Amino acid sequence: MTNKLEFYRCSVCGNVVQVLLDGEGELFCCGEAMELLKPKTTEGDMGEYHVPVFMHDDEKGTFIQVGKEPHPMTEEHHIEFIQFISEDKKCTGLHYFGSGEEPKMYLNKSVGNQKKCAVEMCNLHGLWKGENDEY
Ligand SMILES: [Fe+2]
Repeated sequence: MTNKLEFYRCSVCGNVVQVLLDGEGELFCCGEAMELLKPKTTEGDMGEYHVPVFMHDDEKGTFIQVGKEPHPMTEEHHIEFIQFISEDKKCTGLHYFGSGEEPKMYLNKSVGNQKKCAVEMCNLHGLWKGENDEY
């Protein structure tokens, strides 16, 4: 059984997929069941540079930033993407990043003033999740 918006990874080839709609079956890749990726929500002793945080800029509006401290954006260690998810899971947005780019995602005003969540993936440290409780 898979659930909407879950992430799965193939431990053989590294493929990462996301479920668009719930399903009864199990996902396979390279002949093996794919691993469900569960996002981490607390940093522990790694520093505070992975959990997505919601910030506000008077000119550009609300944006998602990866971590309270800047995350490295080198070829070897970087943020692959940020995904915004509305609380009702009816609206999502995905922004990919390359090395050298700043991992920030500005939100369109059409997403409304509801509680929001964001996930991000670091190529070395996996999937992380943060929430915005302001609304
Ligand atoms: Fe990282």
